[in-house]
Amino acid sequence: MVLRSLRRSLLIIGLGIITLIVIRDIAQTHGLSDLCSALVNPKRLYHCDEMKVITEDGFVLGVQRISSSAAQGDKRQPVFLMHGILSGGDTWLLNSPDQSLGFILADAGYDVWIGNFRTTNFCHGHILYTSKDKEYWDWSFQELAEKDLISMVEYAYKTTNMRLHYIGYSQGTQAALAALSQGMLAERIDKVVMMAPVAYLKHTATPIGILAARLQLDRVFNGLRVFSLNTKTTAGRQYVDILCPAWNDRCFNIWVNSFTGVNCCINASRRAFYDAFETQDTSTKNLRHLAQLYRRGTFAKFDYGADENMRRYGVSFAPDYDLSKVPTGKMLIIHGEKDVLADVDDVSMLKEQLPQGYRSIFIQEYAHIDFIIGYNANTKVYRDILHFLSE
Ligand SMILES: *[C@@H]1O[C@H](CO)[C@@H](O)[C@H](O)[C@H]1NC(C)=O
Repeated sequence: MVLRSLRRSLLIIGLGIITLIVIRDIAQTHGLSDLCSALVNPKRLYHCDEMKVITEDGFVLGVQRISSSAAQGDKRQPVFLMHGILSGGDTWLLNSPDQSLGFILADAGYDVWIGNFRTTNFCHGHILYTSKDKEYWDWSFQELAEKDLISMVEYAYKTTNMRLHYIGYSQGTQAALAALSQGMLAERIDKVVMMAPVAYLKHTATPIGILAARLQLDRVFNGLRVFSLNTKTTAGRQYVDILCPAWNDRCFNIWVNSFTGVNCCINASRRAFYDAFETQDTSTKNLRHLAQLYRRGTFAKFDYGADENMRRYGVSFAPDYDLSKVPTGKMLIIHGEKDVLADVDDVSMLKEQLPQGYRSIFIQEYAHIDFIIGYNANTKVYRDILHFLSE
């Protein structure tokens, strides 16, 4: 017992130090920014277009649109896919066409739209700032909801002139819930699928949560003027490799699992391929916001402190997102028992706050990443999504 808790403490401290070192490394811009040629065109059976959408606060986001040249019908129903934290739109295309939701939807005849949040690989920067500027990293999921999501969905809606089905994963659900709770987005979307949904983080048992709460790491970052998180820089990569050498899959699995829960169904022989895309940049302010949720057990806007809250929100505290305002009549929630980011108790809290009407599917053996790159997610999850969308 003592040994276990000692080992746990050492692991937490070790991860803390390594995370700090990784994060201190300055973000670099990645060469990879064309998702179509990276993951779609080689397979040829699909049309894939790259588009740019500029948010109201100046970020230039990449959006991709994919459809199958084999599928019939000219008025195709658009589906909008929104990825999670530390990754990008590649999330939906990383496995074979019969295993990846992006391709599966295109094959089923949908007009597939893939969103990319700011500062990911498929974001094309900012009209004024570069990644070296503090302002470039001055955002949390609040801006992802109110700026990025709104701009991208609006663009897809205007282009297709149709309401979209929305499928979010992880932070892609969190941003959607934040937007929907404020009356945004609802007029543009039809059905909603929430995969591994994250609103509350009260019960999460990931090192991010524990570090944030115990060591107040988010405050440390801010004090150090460290504004972005990136494991893909040379130094970042080296520290991940020191922690877990490239050849040691078991170690790597423990490292990944400690953040996501024990994933049952990841194809280990594809690790190098997944590694080429993940992880992608996020801001430490985004992590600070998540840490606030963890510490307080709330689902609320970013807390700036009394004065700034008063200026921004008109009240001295950070207002809660009112989940009772989220329309749930056409919503499907899918979550997994082994998921420690979308923890079962946190998802229960979310369900209690949402109005009745949603449907829910519980996958016993799934943890956080199984939902997007699980080799059997096609039969465990995506088949039900297709069914729900076509009803
Ligand atoms: C795992 O990945 C390898 C290499 O891409 C592939 O050949 C194999 O079919 C995959 N296995 C499963 C179960 O999908």
